[in-house]
Amino acid sequence: MNELLQLLKRHSTPAKVLAEPAPDDEQLRQILEIAMHAPDHGRIYPYRFITIRGDARHELSRVFGEAVKRRDPDVSSDYLKKQMDKPLRSPLIVVVIASLIESPKIPEIEQMLCAGAAAHNILLASNAMGFGSIWLTGDNAYDTHVESALGLAGNEQIIGFIYLGSEEKELPSPQKPGVSDRISQWP
Ligand SMILES: Cc1cc2nc3c(=O)[nH]c(=O)nc-3n(C[C@H](O)[C@H](O)[C@H](O)COP(=O)(O)O)c2cc1C
Repeated sequence: MNELLQLLKRHSTPAKVLAEPAPDDEQLRQILEIAMHAPDHGRIYPYRFITIRGDARHELSRVFGEAVKRRDPDVSSDYLKKQMDKPLRSPLIVVVIASLIESPKIPEIEQMLCAGAAAHNILLASNAMGFGSIWLTGDNAYDTHVESALGLAGNEQIIGFIYLGSEEKELPSPQKPGVSDRISQWP
């Protein structure tokens, strides 16, 4: 029952209120091991993770800045700064990458869903360990310059930047709509 109540408390934390300590290397390894328990048609593990911690976040900030300028050479300095500040908000980022295979049996959507389930397991595991987290995308997640800077291959796609850390202040779990409107019995 305790685990079920824990699941009801799962919530995202705005990246700017995630501070040190982030999961350490061993805790992160455990979190990513739990990610790999995602359901997976064909056991193909169609994803991988890039971890970006501490000073390395400045490299991602630089890449975000380049990407923004390539998308819009006339970008305002305010917007540029806002985008470059994004990776610096939290102490640890896990980039979740879908690595899709050609398969007659496992359609792309199933592989994407599997990678998404792995990403969600990161959120569940990090909350269960007492850390805060949030799954974010935005234009930089779909930008070819960011993809090549991170070393993605042609069959790969960023599905999310998961920001991790400790909640600077405890936030209430979000209210969700009642589930009964979404349930019907058939036939
Ligand atoms: C694939 C995906 C991409 C998302 N990208 C963003 C994003 O770029 N910006 C944002 O504010 N929320 C984004 N979200 C939503 C947040 O991660 C979060 O779920 C939302 O703020 C609701 O909070 P909750 O998880 O506590 O219910 C994304 C969620 C998913 C599943």
